[in-house]
Amino acid sequence: MSRAREWIELHRRYLATTTHDPENLPLVVERGEGVWLFDVDNNRYLDFSSSISVNNLGYPSHPEVIKAVVEQLGRLGHAAGTDFYNPYQVQLAMKLVEETPGDFPKKVFFGNSGTEANEAALKIAKTSTGRPLFISFIGGFHGRTHGTLALTASKSVQKKRQFPWMPGVFYAPYPNPYRNPWKIDGYEHPDELVQRVLEFIEEYIFDKLAPPEDFAGIFFEPIQGEGGYVVPPRGFFRELEKLARRHGILLVDDEVQMGLGRTGRMWGIEHFEVAPDILTTAKALSGGLVPIGATVYRAELDFKEAGMHSNTFGGNALASIVGIKVLEIAKSLLPHVRELEGLFRDELGRIKEEFSGVGDVRGLGLAWGVEFVSDKNTKKPDVEARNRVIREALKRGLVILGCGKSSVRLIPPLTISEEEAKIGLGLFREALKATL
Ligand SMILES: Cc1ncc(COP(=O)(O)O)c(C=O)c1O
Repeated sequence: MSRAREWIELHRRYLATTTHDPENLPLVVERGEGVWLFDVDNNRYLDFSSSISVNNLGYPSHPEVIKAVVEQLGRLGHAAGTDFYNPYQVQLAMKLVEETPGDFPKKVFFGNSGTEANEAALKIAKTSTGRPLFISFIGGFHGRTHGTLALTASKSVQKKRQFPWMPGVFYAPYPNPYRNPWKIDGYEHPDELVQRVLEFIEEYIFDKLAPPEDFAGIFFEPIQGEGGYVVPPRGFFRELEKLARRHGILLVDDEVQMGLGRTGRMWGIEHFEVAPDILTTAKALSGGLVPIGATVYRAELDFKEAGMHSNTFGGNALASIVGIKVLEIAKSLLPHVRELEGLFRDELGRIKEEFSGVGDVRGLGLAWGVEFVSDKNTKKPDVEARNRVIREALKRGLVILGCGKSSVRLIPPLTISEEEAKIGLGLFREALKATL
């Protein structure tokens, strides 16, 4: 038995069952170097997953982040960031305020993860508006704790045996151009698709289910990640913003997976020219080293009394130093990400034409989804083909992860060179040839 299989067996025995899929992705990582991962049997893999958009700056992290961590370790790691003050969290908060959309005063709450950033967003929206209800989108993912679990609607298994989760969330279809309840071709007719979604919210949710004045916020991902790397029509968020403003509802933009340069802009929502009232980020802000999450919001929405919300690790000095560096480096990588976008768009476009099992290809920057179908006309999802592509890619030394029902995501570290990107796309093509 390989060492990998031995570790997987021990893992199975001692660790909680989470999202591992040992049949399709039996990868036991021992170390990482740039965009490459090495397993316990010393096999080398090109990583097209960035550990789900966490290691956007590669492995173990960007050299400048590592240097900053080592320096900070000689000064301070943790010192009760929500009871004592420290300069590091203030500096990171100031930077986040500067780098996020919206030319208005903002404040920041720090946590440890994406779900915690979204939980804070829920509390901020409820307390500031005095309203109890929320809208989120089918296919969306916002976390797995009981508040965010209610917002999450990408796979029903995530909610298995958990009812009741937080009450008060209503779900609307996301304007997925390839697959939507109205069977509109959203690439050909983007405005029609957007209008249908808005009508659904106004005519079904607000007219029949609950009045708009009871809604505190609308949660969305600018591009759905776990739901399949789905890019909505460009006009969608401007129209959603108009609807939200009409009813005094807050827009909550979950940038946990798409933020920090992944789409070629600092934040995914920048492609849509909308400034959300609340923006959440996590994953890549950690530099792949120190877990952190952040909720950035209009200053006027802040909690009015000490103690209404807090935590233990928020404002951790080490995490703050990492976040500052990550923001700087991610910003400097934006032109590079935009340059590589064309390479992915062209090659994946060709792949869609050549392979009958590839139904849809969509993406921005270095955030790409490829959806597998058994028939391009019926669009029947081909889950087995998707899983086999992941296995065949791994056999050839390429790490990719699934998303949606029958899609894969291609999301390499933003630091990847053009040559490495070409190698990865070549291996992906080989995996498709072996499968389809
Ligand atoms: C868009 C989005 N929001 C929230 C989360 C939850 O983040 P975490 O797993 O850090 O709690 C994720 C995780 O995949 C995510 O992709």
